[in-house]
Amino acid sequence: MNLLVTGAAGFIGSRYVRMLLDSRAPDAPHITVLDKLTYAGTLDNLELGHPRLEFVQGDICDAELVDKLTSEADQVVHFAAESHVDRSIMGAADFVRTNVVGTQTLLDSALRNGVGAFVHVSTDEVYGSIDEGSWPEEHPLAPNSPYSASKASSDLLALAYHRTHGLDVRVTRCSNNYGPHQFPEKVVPLFITNLLDGRKVPLYGKGLNVRDWLHVEDHCQGVDLVRTKGRPGEVYNIGGGTELSNKELTGLLLDACGADWDMVEYVEDRKGHDLRYSVDWSKARTELGYRPRHELRSGLADTVAWYRDNRDWWEPLKRRVGGEHV
Ligand code: NAD
Ligand code: DAU
Repeated sequence: MNLLVTGAAGFIGSRYVRMLLDSRAPDAPHITVLDKLTYAGTLDNLELGHPRLEFVQGDICDAELVDKLTSEADQVVHFAAESHVDRSIMGAADFVRTNVVGTQTLLDSALRNGVGAFVHVSTDEVYGSIDEGSWPEEHPLAPNSPYSASKASSDLLALAYHRTHGLDVRVTRCSNNYGPHQFPEKVVPLFITNLLDGRKVPLYGKGLNVRDWLHVEDHCQGVDLVRTKGRPGEVYNIGGGTELSNKELTGLLLDACGADWDMVEYVEDRKGHDLRYSVDWSKARTELGYRPRHELRSGLADTVAWYRDNRDWWEPLKRRVGGEHV
């Protein structure tokens, strides 16, 4: 079985590919990774040379290349995206190009080439912001940032290819991930790497925004359950981590790094900052047997230890973006 995985030089896609390459199952797929290697992608995330892995550097908007790769693929798992909300506020063009046009290019090619399951990795941010309760999959989409609007567009396009053309599309909407190999612009690795360097951490607004923190391995298990057991045309929320305000998260990271509140600088809030995300993931639990396994405190401690032991991985990435966003 040939599986095309897009965006797997990044944080979550690379963890997903490592999980499949570690599998000894007789039906473990041969994997082709398509990744443009933007600022967020690095080959250090991939086990190049593994007999079941092929890497192709390229753009998901390149219709000719995408057509060749989908003609060789039985299934697609689509992670590639511009993924950082702050960057989308500074400029939305790359977000529309990659997240919307790139996804449409992949869907067209998958359809033309008779690909089987096409897992589109979406996000909980497409639902907007919720003060209390949790979103079920049927909840209307109401994205607020250019990032989440571009992800909602691609999510709806993917579902439209199922309804209109019968393509076997499955959509996942997951909460905030943390773990090793996350680019040091997102709050967890940014705060950890700053603290390891003895630098302050910038907490937006009053630190009261709430996120549901899920270990990346739990997300990847969920994505693979959707690929192997999910139903065509269905959406699956993936969550069940731990809901925390950013202030509470910061407290845990300070503890894990042995730092105190003097290291926190309250800074201007993010524009249009969503207050709270919360998905109802009971469908994935009852239909697919999905269950997150990692406990947050020990998961964060392991993540801090990984960043402490892997400066060679993150220092060049921080230099690459020149401190502009980190
Ligand atoms: P990331 O930014 O770490 O990685 C994105 C990868 O996509 C990079 O390797 C990059 O080089 C590649 N890429 C970007 N543009 C491309 C293009 N035009 N063609 C080919 N490759 C391209 O992102 P991540 O955090 O691993 O997120 C992966 C997916 O999961 C995204 O679709 C994101 O929306 C979704 N998601 C992320 C989270 C989270 O907490 N990080 C939660 C839910 C959903
Ligand atoms: O919910 C899933 C989404 O989670 C994914 O779709 C996105 O790709 C991913 O980036 C993430 O989006 P967030 O905006 O929630 O993640 P981020 O790490 O950027 O911010 C988390 C919270 O921390 C948010 O409320 C903003 C705050 N924050 C962030 C940064 C970078 C700070 O207070 N200071 C910071 O420097």
